[in-house]
Amino acid sequence: MSSDSLVCLKDFEKYAKEHLNRNSWGFFSAGAEGCQTLRDNEEAFRRLRLRPRFLRDVSVRDMSATVLGQRVDMPIGISPTANQGLASSQGEIGTAKAQFQTCMICSTYSNFTMEDIMNSSPDGLKWFQLYVRPDRETTAGLVRRAERAGYKALVLTVDLPIVGRRYPDLRHGFSMPPHLRVANLGNADLSQNKKDRNEALDYGMGGPDQSSDRALSWKDVAWLRSICSLPIILKGILTAEDARLAVQHGVDGILVSNHGGRQLDGVPATIEALPEIVQAAGDKLEVYMDGGVRTGTDVLKALALGARAVFIGRPAVWGLCYKGQEGVAKVLSILKEELSLAMALSGCRSIADITPDLVVRDSPYSRL
Ligand code: FNR
Ligand code: LAC
Repeated sequence: MSSDSLVCLKDFEKYAKEHLNRNSWGFFSAGAEGCQTLRDNEEAFRRLRLRPRFLRDVSVRDMSATVLGQRVDMPIGISPTANQGLASSQGEIGTAKAQFQTCMICSTYSNFTMEDIMNSSPDGLKWFQLYVRPDRETTAGLVRRAERAGYKALVLTVDLPIVGRRYPDLRHGFSMPPHLRVANLGNADLSQNKKDRNEALDYGMGGPDQSSDRALSWKDVAWLRSICSLPIILKGILTAEDARLAVQHGVDGILVSNHGGRQLDGVPATIEALPEIVQAAGDKLEVYMDGGVRTGTDVLKALALGARAVFIGRPAVWGLCYKGQEGVAKVLSILKEELSLAMALSGCRSIADITPDLVVRDSPYSRL
């Protein structure tokens, strides 16, 4: 495929599928069990319709926004995905250099250290995604490093006390290539270090998992609050009940997510879970979402339903596979262009103009 023929994010998915080996493609594309939720993340956007307004002078559109008080060029960021080295030798550094003026969330399970990623693009806004490990001292060490390195928030992933069952990984047996490492957790090359290597394999295969703490509870949220001065965002909340608890625990944000359909199959698409969480959160904390965002109109719908920003997981990895940094930049710029167009065609000049009345479920005309 020539560069010009990749015009939308799904084209990058096709490219990645054709070019990655079975191990890497299986890891990136997998959903849990029957993949109902994985499919629904994208399909649920198609069940929403837009109600555009016209005659509003859309000659200039401003897509800038803020997240936790920091300005971003567009309300579209990059969600944490583990092992980006499987997509390109540039790994997370390619993604970081491409992030331009938006927010990148770096996974605990990156193949470069959080310090190396930060140093590769020190001006880009970055948040650190934390998996709480059974050993709290190791966890506290990760948190301290993130603060010191200049990460601006801690994103605590709550939906992975145990890894979901992902058939591709189980069928073919995911394996971490020997040149890659779980860089934040030890400097040894994984092929030399059996313990680190097994940790990496365990979570990838959905086997017995010791890398994330099964006992994680609201008490740990309070503990993190006590050891860390960074804002805390909970990633993976899917209900109003948990959103209210998040408010009570004084967290600063919620990233509505179902882990890209990789954890509990059968949970709602995130675009469908979003409204109840926005309502429960009120103005007490910021609400973001990820899962199935593939077009500018998807972004428009999520913002209309109350997300302050959206994040993409797999599409950034597809871009990385296509051409490293340049590929990720292309994915981001396509999405930005599509959002700009969607705003123009729906009568929105700024992000504040994107309000709930822009969206209806299914076709209201079919009920007449
Ligand atoms: C993820 N996700 C994830 N989440 C997290 O908190 N820490 C992580 O290390 C990872 N790793 C990871 C690897 C891969 C290959 C995928 C596909 C996903 C979940 C991710 O942050 C995000 O929630 C989803 O990917 C969003 O859905 P889309 O955009 O992929 O549809
Ligand atoms: C995954 C973990 C690493 O989804 O978050 O593979």
